[in-house]
Amino acid sequence: MLHDPNRVYVFDTTLRDGEQVPGCQLTTPEKIEIAHELEALGVDIIEAGFPISSPGDFQSVVEISKAVKNPIVCALTRANKGDIDAAVESLRYAKHPRIHTGIGSSDMHIKNKFNSTREEILVRAVEAVKYAKKSVEDIEFYAEDAGRADVRYLAQMIEAVIAAGATVVNIPDTNGYCLPDQYGEKIKFLKENVKNIDKAIISVHCHNDLGLATANSIAGLQNGARQIEGTINGIGERAGNTAIEEVVMILRTHHALGLHTNINAKNFYELSRMVSSQMRMPVQPNKAIVGSNAFAHSSGIHQDGFLKNRENYEIIRPEDVGFPNASIVLTARSGRHALKFHLERLGINLNKDELSDAYHRFLTLADNKLDINDDDLLLLMTADNSYVQAMQKR
Ligand code: KIV
Ligand code: ZN
Repeated sequence: MLHDPNRVYVFDTTLRDGEQVPGCQLTTPEKIEIAHELEALGVDIIEAGFPISSPGDFQSVVEISKAVKNPIVCALTRANKGDIDAAVESLRYAKHPRIHTGIGSSDMHIKNKFNSTREEILVRAVEAVKYAKKSVEDIEFYAEDAGRADVRYLAQMIEAVIAAGATVVNIPDTNGYCLPDQYGEKIKFLKENVKNIDKAIISVHCHNDLGLATANSIAGLQNGARQIEGTINGIGERAGNTAIEEVVMILRTHHALGLHTNINAKNFYELSRMVSSQMRMPVQPNKAIVGSNAFAHSSGIHQDGFLKNRENYEIIRPEDVGFPNASIVLTARSGRHALKFHLERLGINLNKDELSDAYHRFLTLADNKLDINDDDLLLLMTADNSYVQAMQKR
């Protein structure tokens, strides 16, 4: 399956891990709309849901399977026959179906969640993969809580599930526990010690409990993983999942990594806003890549440098991710260059003295009003000073 060794496959779980967030539940038509946009974005795999969990989720997987053509459609299961049967049934219209089955791999999960032993869990993992493989060729296995699992046991489990037919092996840092070098080492260990690892793609699935999801995903890719799982805007359980837009833009910005995806990054901004509004989950303004301030320059020093050459303060061009525009925000910290830039944009050209006079009035205004828009600038330029005085009195 893997032809280009530097190609990274993008597995989107906005509609499964993302949708698990309380208050973010979507209707089937809303999910279909997002699935179409994910297809346009160029994701390789859409995790459409967890079919056994509810009739609604089951139906969403059915409808998404009918709706999209190119991406693999994936359904989540636990390692049992009932879950797998439901997933197989829900994927019956998928052009490229995938079952995502798995079980806990850390001693914490084995003892405290399954009240079981390493040996028994290994048997259940292999049985689940073999059972799913009877119906669907493409089987992804997840070793839940792999971030905290003993790496030798993890390697044994991964080798056994690949031998049973798994085509992709997902190594989730379910609790967002690992440091990037620890997670990277784990992937490296699997790559070097699992005998049949060349028969499967290693996938990274990182949660953001310590704010390290993106860093850990990149560490995984640097150590041999070739599939990355994440969501749009990084939404997901607790502190969220890896934000797909971040990983994709890191790979684009750091060419030296030598890795690439098939993603149309220009679609990021619009899709981010669609996911945010449908899931009623605002995007934090300082969110990397898609936050409203991601390309806004507000301090005088930065604005001056940006106006001289945008690359002074811009490592990604906003248009490359579909962002409407870089913006020079006018605040009380802005300098003369920023004011001049905006006035000229409005067709107002001032000489040095006029600009100096306007700048002083602008500062008084900006100390009294948080956001300065075009209307404010036009009023600021009226002959008398009444607008600035009125704002001061408020
Ligand atoms: O975080 C996790 O371990 C998961 C698995 C179900 C893949 O979401
Ligand atoms: Zn997860």
